[in-house]
Amino acid sequence: MPGKRRKTKKQRDYQKDFERFKTYIHKLREEAIQLVDSLPPNDKKIVLAFFSRYYREEKEHYWSITKLFAHAMYIPMFLQIGRANFDRLIYIDTHSGPGLARIGPADDEIVLGSPLIALRWPEIIAQNVRQYRKIASGFDAFYFIELDPQRAAVLNRLVDKHPHGGKAQVRIGNSNTILPSIIKKELQQGTKPLFYIFIDPYGEINTQLTADTILASLKQARADVIITVFDAHIARAFSGKPNPDLAGKLFGREFCQTSMQASERLCRTGNPRRSDIIKAFKYLFNLLGYKNISIIPVMKENITIYHLMLAVKHPSSPWVKSYINYLKRMLPKPEILKNIWKNITGRQTTLDNFF
Ligand SMILES: C[S@@+](CC[C@H](N)C(=O)[O-])C[C@H]1O[C@@H](n2cnc3c(N)ncnc32)[C@H](O)[C@@H]1O
Repeated sequence: MPGKRRKTKKQRDYQKDFERFKTYIHKLREEAIQLVDSLPPNDKKIVLAFFSRYYREEKEHYWSITKLFAHAMYIPMFLQIGRANFDRLIYIDTHSGPGLARIGPADDEIVLGSPLIALRWPEIIAQNVRQYRKIASGFDAFYFIELDPQRAAVLNRLVDKHPHGGKAQVRIGNSNTILPSIIKKELQQGTKPLFYIFIDPYGEINTQLTADTILASLKQARADVIITVFDAHIARAFSGKPNPDLAGKLFGREFCQTSMQASERLCRTGNPRRSDIIKAFKYLFNLLGYKNISIIPVMKENITIYHLMLAVKHPSSPWVKSYINYLKRMLPKPEILKNIWKNITGRQTTLDNFF
């Protein structure tokens, strides 16, 4: 019988990774559903309004799992290595949202969003992976920045329910002013902090962090950064014509003086390619001494929706390599990811043909 064929070692390893991946996503969903159920009606309304604002065009958003999984899986490694070398490990989320993310059209197709993953994930991993059992206490401090006061209020209430919630501050306002001030204050305290900063501004130009913010925040600090780069959206904002002001705002005042092809198209001739936006971000982070930059595509079927950029200052960081290899191994192909999500939510019962 075809179903009874013995599996090769490769197939067995793949199946093990796959089961683990499913367990993690299942956990992110289960906790999100519990939290939403615990919210008062007005908070639920705010969360629903947030979902329809950010996920309105697409019925499904399963590629967000890639982003959130990449974010979650950076945390254990960051904490483990950071704890051995720094006094204080600090998480900053520059665009927090209310703490929940939507993956599909139904009310139960949700998972924890980036700030709650930062709060909750260390415990989950410590309980499940022996190698990481010492990271359960997580970060020493969390700063969650959110522009919208209502979303920030919901996040605050969700954070308060968590045993480590006392270590977190929800700051209402624009990250372009709040982020540099948080970092400055932390650096003045005389401890040796290491930051993990998650920057998730979506694709609108006016929600991006400016180059001035990034330069002011990251010049002195030791910080690992994951940023969602909506390269297609940003390239489109140059709408066929060069825009040196916008290019300078996003990538630094001197960007337009460089002889890069990316700056040629963004500042002088127009019609930038998506890859020009990635190159421009790399240029900005290189200015700050980031020697180690990895790009992770976030895909829907065969379309790249956006990219994640991981920037680390340390030039020789073998853990970054193993992290990227881990993601490559664990993250299912986009078309399979969609079915896994449906399977997790009970909408598709068989995944047999994936092995
Ligand atoms: C894509 S959502 C973030 C999703 C979140 N990272 C998650 O994984 O659940 C973007 C959020 O950033 C907020 N926002 C936009 N511009 C901002 C700014 N300049 N500073 C702080 N928050 C901002 C929006 O109100 C929105 O809630």
